[in-house]
Amino acid sequence: MSTYAIWNNKGGVGKSYLTFQVAAEFACQNPNKRVLVIDLCPQANSSSMLLGGMFGGEQILTQIHTTAPRKTISGYFEDRIRSPYVSPSTGANYITQVSMHNSQMPRNLFLVVGDEQLELQSSRVSAATSPGPQDSWRIVHLWVRDLIEDINDRWDHEDCIVFIDCNPSFSIYTELSLTASDRLLIPFSADGSSKRAVKAVLSLIYGSTRRQGEQQSEFYLNSQRYRMALPQIYMYIGNRLTQMNQSSASAFRTVVEEIGEEIWEVWQSSPQYFCVHPRGASTPRNKRTFKQMFQYEVNDANTASVVSSALGIPISRLTAGQRDVAGRRITVNQSQLDKQVPNLRSLVQSIE
Ligand SMILES: Nc1ncnc2c1ncn2[C@@H]1O[C@H](COP(=O)(O)OP(=O)(O)OP(=O)(O)O)[C@@H](O)[C@H]1O
Ligand SMILES: [Mg+2]
Repeated sequence: MSTYAIWNNKGGVGKSYLTFQVAAEFACQNPNKRVLVIDLCPQANSSSMLLGGMFGGEQILTQIHTTAPRKTISGYFEDRIRSPYVSPSTGANYITQVSMHNSQMPRNLFLVVGDEQLELQSSRVSAATSPGPQDSWRIVHLWVRDLIEDINDRWDHEDCIVFIDCNPSFSIYTELSLTASDRLLIPFSADGSSKRAVKAVLSLIYGSTRRQGEQQSEFYLNSQRYRMALPQIYMYIGNRLTQMNQSSASAFRTVVEEIGEEIWEVWQSSPQYFCVHPRGASTPRNKRTFKQMFQYEVNDANTASVVSSALGIPISRLTAGQRDVAGRRITVNQSQLDKQVPNLRSLVQSIE
């Protein structure tokens, strides 16, 4: 079983959109595996898309959020706030089978629903890391890992894969997502500030600093102190790339290349932070083979992406033609689908 965190310290780069598309596509490509999405973002965007999108999905979310006890990530955290240092083994009570609510989704896709209550809980979660037993930081940071273990037990350890949609901020629940994950997918958009955000990811998780004496993150220092494994970089994904015209394409390329350089430098000094894949592949020997292994690109599919997320239909299941979105007829073109579907398919084929 592998657990992937989808994280970038920058907002709006496509973490939730890619979680939705990648999880759905993986489930379609691997009907014999169970796919679990854990939505650890209080905005619950990926939950909303998975459960049916802007209308159907939002309605179901409201229903789930107003039913006690909450069958969401916050419901599980409530159990853990009551029992911070001994796992209550209640994680499996919080799974939702996505196809029960959204018929467009394959039956092997499951979700621990996101919840805005995470914001309210975060101070109580943080508080649990300091009193109590000496290694309370470590125990609390394993809550999401415990949740996955409970679900895995319920599923008799059958083959499964986990995707965690993270909040952009380096909040306590993002930390918990990272300690639960063994692999990291870093989406970024092709703009100047993305480079800074990718640097922040590297420094917050792996403590990489540019100058001597620069402060390292508490998360990194504590992970070292308690000898906890850190997730390894599996892919960095240039997302929402546009191929409108020659000059915008080359501007995007420049940014993607610069971010690639940044990550290439980390590889040269710290290859242990990377997950060489697929299993059995040989270690990249030069920049070209490094990029082939770790760098991916997903184009913007314009209207097709909007329709896909608004209606909760995975883009690879969407067909060209007219669709009704909020009472308006919207046309999805085959050319839009062709921009993104092949990207997603090949990206997902590289995930194991
Ligand atoms: N490849 C893409 N093609 C077209 N639209 C996209 C693509 N990726 C993301 N989007 C759109 O961009 C917007 C931002 O994406 P998303 O909400 O997934 O970002 P995020 O990183 O999860 O944001 P946040 O940091 O707020 O959680 C959304 O409207 C989403 O539908
Ligand atoms: Mg998001």
